[in-house]
Order: sequence, then structure tokens, then C-alpha cells
Amino acid sequence: MSFINKIREKAKKNIKKIVLPEATDERVVVAASKIVKEKLALPILIGKRSEIEEIAKKANIVLEGIEIIEPLNYKKLDSYIEKLVELRAAKGMTPEKAKEILLSDVNFFGAMMVKMKDCDGMVSGSDSPTANVLRAGLQVVGTKPGIKTVSSVFVMELSQKQEEYGEVLLFGDCAVIPEPTSAQLADIASEAAVTAATVVGIVPKVALLSFSTKGSAKHEAVDVVVEAGKILTERKVTFEFEEEIQADAALVATVGLKKAPNSKVAGQANILIFPNLASGNIGYKLVQRLAGAAAYGPLIQGLASPINDLSRGCSIDDIVNLSAITAVQAV
Ligand code: ACO
Repeated sequence: MSFINKIREKAKKNIKKIVLPEATDERVVVAASKIVKEKLALPILIGKRSEIEEIAKKANIVLEGIEIIEPLNYKKLDSYIEKLVELRAAKGMTPEKAKEILLSDVNFFGAMMVKMKDCDGMVSGSDSPTANVLRAGLQVVGTKPGIKTVSSVFVMELSQKQEEYGEVLLFGDCAVIPEPTSAQLADIASEAAVTAATVVGIVPKVALLSFSTKGSAKHEAVDVVVEAGKILTERKVTFEFEEEIQADAALVATVGLKKAPNSKVAGQANILIFPNLASGNIGYKLVQRLAGAAAYGPLIQGLASPINDLSRGCSIDDIVNLSAITAVQAV
């Protein structure tokens, strides 16, 4: 069974409430109706009921099973305003500003629904840049207890060479932290291992990628990755990892044997941690476009509750699939 079908089956077994705040986008409204039809989650749309009904009529779909929330008339608006003031008091948040934000930015309203446990997760981004969705998540939901870093992974489902590289690989961080420090790289690796085990169902083998394998090149950019490995060793993490390894040595058994003969991960890695956002973002897009891999994500990891970001070019199925993944993350 494909990765996404496994996720859909998992989501159906434990129905979660997922808010899709960008309900002025027709794709979102149609996706919500598909989510209901396929019994993947209970979708919530945010916006003016009359406008959403108009979109549904145009798209020839029914809104049965979809909850619609109009922020201005919402009975909990006052408690949301109060909470936002409490959360952002140190940054000068006032009740007036909080009200304005919650009524004008659906990402903040949706994130507040997640924070207040009025739903289990949020999927947004079909109509907003990644940074806007992330900021709402960071400022309202915040990080999991004990976690400092919010980052992301893409689940890359290969369409070829599965016998060589496995069905799915995780790539991180391809969406959040532009220039991670060593400690942040270690956090990204640790959270990716958690995502691999809990959402994808694979045993993590993590490669902290570089342009050097075990001392083959000297550069300060390599040192950052070496240090990340030291931090993981100090933390006594239980998953297998290899730091300072090139992508070919991480993935190809013969190359791994030659370049890193003592490694337990070389030639078998299923989680690739890129040294920075530029390489990660470019890397996943190249594999998606040139090798025809399906890219699911970015799955945001490290937040206290799941919030995931869509590409603005997403399809209706992308929204449905990411909602199912978000529901599984919420379990
Ligand atoms: N982990 C944990 N906390 C964070 C992180 C993080 N990664 N980033 C910011 N924070 C903290 C901030 O320090 C701040 O804390 P404070 O309120 O105590 O001061 C709080 O979260 C809120 O942060 P903001 O100031 O609102 O956000 P910031 O300006 O730091 O930006 C952002 C964060 C939006 C994630 C930024 O790093 C960014 O734009 N990243 C790149 C996103 C992007 O464009 N990705 C590429 C496209 S995605 C794709 O192609 C799939």
C-alpha cells in the first residue's frame, strides 16, 4: 500500500477535527467536502457562511458534515482575544491589536482554535506564504514541551529504484530554518526521527549531510555538521545517525562502504538532514521534479499541536492528503 493510502487508513481509524482556515479558496471548500465523503477527518472552515455557500454552489458540492465558523460572530472570540494578549503580552499585544489580528488573519484564528483545543490541527497555505502560516503556529501554538526548534520534513515517496533506496525517504529541513546552528541541526534530526517512527512507520537511519564525508574536506560549514553529530552523541539519542556524510555515501551501499566503512547508516540512510534551507529546499524539489518522487509536506515538526503548510500551487488532493497526515500527527 502506498504511503498516502496507509495514512488515509490511519486517519479514518481516529477521526480528528482539522481546521482549514482559507475558505475563500474554492480548492479548500471542495477539499473539505472530499474529506467528509472519504471520512478522513471532521473539517472546519473559517469565513462568512454566505460566501462559503456561494463557493460550494458554484463548485456543485454540498456542505453537509462541514463546520463553518464566522470569526466575528464566534461565541469564543473574547476568550481567543484574551489568550492572544496573554501569549504575546511581552511583545506589546493589546486587546485591540489581538482582536484586529484574529479578525483579519485566518491563520491566527485557525491556530488559536488549535491552541484552545477547539480542533486538533490546522492545514493552511493555499492562499498564504509559508512564513505567515509558520508565524501563526510559532506565536500561538508554540513548541512542544522540552522542544526548542520548529522545523520540517518532506516525505518523499519514490516512483523508481525503491528496491535500492526504500519506498519513502524523509528530507529535512526544507521549509523553516534558513541557517541552522549545530544544535538546531541536532533538533531537526531528532524530530525527523520521531516523525519517521510515528507518522511514517519506518526505523530511522539519519544522515546529517555535507559536501564532505568523514574528514574528506575542511571548511567551517562542515564543522557545523560535525558539531551537530557531537551534540546527538552527548544527548545519547537512541536512533542511528551519521554526521558529515555526502548524499551518495548516505544512500548508495557501495559508495558508503568506500567512503564511510565503519558507519551503520552509510548506504542505508532513510532520513536526509540537509545542512541549510537552501540545500534542503533545492534538494527536495530536484528529486520531486527530476526523479518523479511524490513530495508530501512540509510536515511541520516541533509545534505543540500539528499545523501544516500547503504550497500556493496545491491541488485539491494535496489539501485532502495533508489534512489526513495532520490528523495522524494529532493522534
Ligand atoms: N523554532 C522555534 N522558535 C522559532 C523558530 C523556530 N524555527 N523561528 C522563530 N521562532 C520564535 C521566534 O524567536 C519568536 O520568539 P519570541 O516570540 O519569543 O520572540 C517566535 O518564534 C515568533 O517568531 P516570529 O518573530 O514571528 O518569526 P520569525 O521572524 O523568527 O520567522 C519564520 C520565523 C517565519 C519561520 C522564518 O524563519 C522564515 O520565514 N523561514 C523561511 C520560510 C520559507 O519561506 N520557506 C521556504 C518556502 S517553503 C517551501 O518551499 C515548501
